[in-house]
Amino acid sequence: MLSKIRNRTGPVVGIITTGKNKTNNPGGAPQHLYRELISQGRQKGIFIYNFHPHNIDWKRRLIKGYTHNGKRWESGVYRFPDIVYNRILYRNIEASPAVKSILKKFQQDENIILFNTRFLDKWEVHKAINGNRDTAHLVPETELLTRENLYLMLHRHPEVLLKPRNSSKGQGIIKIKQAGKQFSFSRAEWNGPKWIRSNSFINLYRQLKFHNVLNQKYLIQECIDLARYNGRIFDLRSQFQKDGTGNWVLTGVGVRIAGKNRFVTHIPNGGSLAAYNEIIPSVYNTVSEGTRAFDKQLKNIGLFIPPLLEEKLQINLAVLSMDIGIDRSGKMLILEVNSKPARFDEHHIRQRHLINLVDYFLFLTEKKNKRNDN
Ligand SMILES: Nc1ncnc2c1ncn2[C@@H]1O[C@H](COP(=O)(O)OP(=O)(O)O)[C@@H](O)[C@H]1O
Ligand SMILES: [Mg+2]
Repeated sequence: MLSKIRNRTGPVVGIITTGKNKTNNPGGAPQHLYRELISQGRQKGIFIYNFHPHNIDWKRRLIKGYTHNGKRWESGVYRFPDIVYNRILYRNIEASPAVKSILKKFQQDENIILFNTRFLDKWEVHKAINGNRDTAHLVPETELLTRENLYLMLHRHPEVLLKPRNSSKGQGIIKIKQAGKQFSFSRAEWNGPKWIRSNSFINLYRQLKFHNVLNQKYLIQECIDLARYNGRIFDLRSQFQKDGTGNWVLTGVGVRIAGKNRFVTHIPNGGSLAAYNEIIPSVYNTVSEGTRAFDKQLKNIGLFIPPLLEEKLQINLAVLSMDIGIDRSGKMLILEVNSKPARFDEHHIRQRHLINLVDYFLFLTEKKNKRNDN
């Protein structure tokens, strides 16, 4: 297997990744992103390759991987990287004992810097942010799903969402509305709109059980009355990263507008993309001052949240995205934090992402070299 051995002198970055299957390559967008990253790295003297978890030779410290030479993908056997960038995109694969132990080994290896440590669980994120006096006001009220908590939350809020702790793209999200003693619920994936009615809490609970909600790990979250554009709710997709100085910066922010009568904004669920500096001034009537008041809130979120999560969850992150809702009064609320953001559709955000990431690779290698010199 170990045919071609490449020794490189400059910094080497390995992206650990898989497709849906442990031994597959990720297709489509992620593959495209790696190609762009490899090319960006090359311009700054960094060699970047992808590899699968099962292609590591720990004894000889060699890895069979893939890189893009500007024209096509090629495979080779490369030296251990200075930096391992965890881009395993499937929670079940990352949670498998084999992959977990590989990531742990990288983490404990003194010659390697590993990030992003792992996927986040929506509940641990909530607890971290809510448990801090300065940031608690930035998250909607949230509880773990139990019968009692659901009962209480429905007393406190006219609408709640049930969210799986470990999912994405709206999968499994349920919205419950109530009017008097009537309840109705719908699923994010349902286009319709289709609402299932219940005339009592007991009945609602029975229905949820029937829809298999109660067997999984869910959260209950107060549903925010989100700002609307043309009658449709929207939220922000923001990305934050560490830059060439090792500090967190805002990579960029875009708007996602939900489809008609939908309660999630993802593009696969009927949502569409729009520009932050166009939508915000028009919705909040701030045409003269633009997005200034909102930029301040974003900046504040970026200043507090990423370092807080790194510290409280004891993880190493260099990039994250946040879904941020804005309520009718203009207050921003963090709806979700994602440690493995998908490739943004906005070209300018993607470009900034690549520049920051490569600059951060350089920053880390310099830090590592200094450490080794001492
Ligand atoms: N508390 C909330 N109130 C109102 N809408 C929300 C709330 N939380 C999430 N949403 C909507 O649902 C979408 C999906 O929620 P999110 O927590 O990001 O889950 P996922 O992991 O599936 O993306 C958000 O992008 C937003 O449009
Ligand atoms: Mg989300």
